[in-house]
Parts: sequence; C-alpha cells; structure tokens
Amino acid sequence: MSPFLLTRTLPEDTTGADLRADVRSGLTRTPKELPPKWFYDARGSELFEEITRLPEYYPTRAEREILIARAPEIAAATGARTLVELGSGSSEKTRHLIEALLPGLRSYVPVDVSESALSGAAGTLTAAHPELEVHALVADFTRGLALPGTPGPRLVAFLGGTIGNLLPAERELFLRSVRTLLAPGDALLLGTDLVKDEATLVAAYDDASGVTAAFNKNVLSVLRRELGADADPDDFDHVAVWDPEREWIEMRLRARHALTVKFPELDLAVPFEAGEELRTEVSAKFRRDGVRAELDAAGLELAHWWTDEAGRFALSLATAV
Ligand code: SAH
Ligand code: AVI
Repeated sequence: MSPFLLTRTLPEDTTGADLRADVRSGLTRTPKELPPKWFYDARGSELFEEITRLPEYYPTRAEREILIARAPEIAAATGARTLVELGSGSSEKTRHLIEALLPGLRSYVPVDVSESALSGAAGTLTAAHPELEVHALVADFTRGLALPGTPGPRLVAFLGGTIGNLLPAERELFLRSVRTLLAPGDALLLGTDLVKDEATLVAAYDDASGVTAAFNKNVLSVLRRELGADADPDDFDHVAVWDPEREWIEMRLRARHALTVKFPELDLAVPFEAGEELRTEVSAKFRRDGVRAELDAAGLELAHWWTDEAGRFALSLATAV
C-alpha cells in the first residue's frame, strides 16, 4: 500500500484548550449550548457512520444517489486535478466522485477534526487508488485553512449537509473563507439537505434504534474523558425538534432531573434544572433560493443544482465569481 500524508494543523493541546473555551462559554449561558464538532471523537465518528445506514436517515442515501448520477457531469464541468473535501469523515460517498475525476485527478485532500476517520479513509483510498496522492489534514474547517500546494483546477467538496450544522452567521463566514480557497476555474460542490415534512425530519434525528441518541450523548463521554467531567448519559434524554421558523432541526440533551455537572479541571460546576436542555447541534434544511443567496453573498455563483429523484437533498456546483 502506498503511504499517505497526514498533517495536523491543530497543535496537540488545541482540542483541550478549544473544548475548555467552548464549555466555559456554552455551558454558563442560557440556554446552554455546545458546538457539534465535539461529537466526533473516534466513537462519535463510528456512531455517525452507523447513522448513515439507518432506515430513517435518508440524507446519505439521497446524496449518494445524486453523486452516482452526476459524477461524470461534475468531472466534465470542473476538470479537477485536486479534490479538497471538508468534513470528509469516512470519504465513503466521495469515492464515486474520485472515480469519475480519475485519471486527471492527482491529489485528494480530506480535511477533518477526526484523525481516526481521516486515517481510516486515507488508508482505504490509497489502497484502492495507489496513483492518487492523498494528503489528509487534521484541521478545523471554520478556522481558515492552509491547503497544500497541489495542482489546479481545484474542486472543494463539502458534502453530507454538514454546512447545515453551522449557524447562519458562521455559514456566512465559512463560505467567504471557502471563496478565498478558489482561484478562477475552481469550484465548490456543496451538499444541502432540503426542507421537507416534519415527521420525516424528526424521524431522521430520533431513530427507533437509538443510534442518534447515543451519538448525541457521546458528547458527554468526550467531556468526561477530555475534561474529567462527571456527566452521566443516564441523566439526560435525547431530544430532536423541528423549528419551522428557522427551518432547522435542533438536537438537545434534556436533564431528567435537577443535577450539577462538575468540571474539576476547570473549577466549574454547571447546574441543570429538571427538564433544562443543552443544545448540541442545529441541522439546517435548505431551499434552492436560500442556497443561491448564501452563495451569492460569498462571491460564489450557482452553476448547477441537482437533487435526488425524491427531491430530498441537493448538490450544488458553484464557481468563483
Ligand atoms: N462528509 C461525510 C461526513 C459527514 S459527518 C458524509 O457526508 O457522510 C461530519 C464530519 O465533519 C465529521 O467527520 C466531523 O468530524 C467533521 N467535522 C465537524 N465539524 C468540523 C470542523 N469544525 N472542522 C473539521 N471537521 C469537522
Ligand atoms: C454531519 N451532519 C450533516 C449530520 C446532520 O444530519 O446534521 C450530523 C447528524 N446529527 C444527527 N444525525 C446526524
């Protein structure tokens, strides 16, 4: 197997320092919240992969359907020689894109906070395509990326609907920073889950077998392991609600009774009232006009909009204006 490169752009202690800062600011405000990137330690990445196979969780299947149908068009439209993928996870769906982009494709640059997911994906891809240079980056995609100097044209992919896990103001900053990664002739491929009926949406985030509940509660294990917190998953219920105004799903952890979570390393005690909720994720759902407007505002022009047959999920191809 040919080797792949793996670069850590997060210093060894950043995870701890960032998590401390997020706990201090997010758990001492009302309502309480934490950013969703803290789900994804090795166990969280595995649980997400399990989610993608659940009968209720349609986004992965819908996006794969579009990728399989449209990969040749994407390859023809972009002629990409470097594929950068943000929040790449297992890169499982991406192989359809990679296979369509080969043999012109020289480099694949997966970017993720989850080192375990990255090294698994990079190993699998390198074995399948020894001719492809795989340069994995352990990095936070919201923090301004320094990409390796690989050949253009460059295609930046952000799949899975992960953009919906950013709040609107974060999305705006994020899309502007993506724009700075693109030279003339480069493109962005963006996956967005679409607004649909509440029952389908809520079921996708509150599955019958409880995998999403375990994924949500995994953030408590991260707090225990990284910060020595005494958070007990049995003290919380998994909650998924649709907000029809903001058109997003919120995942929350609801305290089953009054309790205090202690963070000895931070000298912090966080009280929860009975029924009090901690927001752990938003997952925004989109419409075509909204996606176009957000791209426009970042200096990106929507060139193609493709959906699956059932119209559940969209892939947009955008170019730098
Ligand atoms: N793209 C894959 C995985 C989606 S899960 C798919 O479509 O199935 C979301 C991925 O984004 C996870 O692998 C998680 O580790 C990563 N992620 C979440 N927040 C991140 C951040 N701020 N910076 C980098 N990666 C992040
Ligand atoms: C990664 N992201 C797009 C997923 C989503 O659907 O918002 C994360 C997830 N949360 C619960 N289930 C899946």
